Amino acid sequence: AIQRKGPFLVEVVAGRTYYWWTCGLSRRRPFCDGTHKSTALEPVAYTATEPTTVEQCGCKQTATRPFCDGTHENL
Ligand code: FES
Repeated sequence: AIQRKGPFLVEVVAGRTYYWWTCGLSRRRPFCDGTHKSTALEPVAYTATEPTTVEQCGCKQTATRPFCDGTHENL
């Protein structure tokens, strides 16, 4: 389901692993809060390689999970 028609800007820390929510139920979106355990879905993990700001997909339609690829512009 489309959660938001645009990305979440997230400041990441090098070497830290982040979990992008996929279930649509998390109260900490765009991050996983464990709520998916009541579903068949799993979060997508990624580890930041440098301190920067990333665009995490909010629409859940991206082909480059967990990052925005611009697909939301056509929704
Ligand atoms: Fe999903 Fe941009 S927010 S592709």
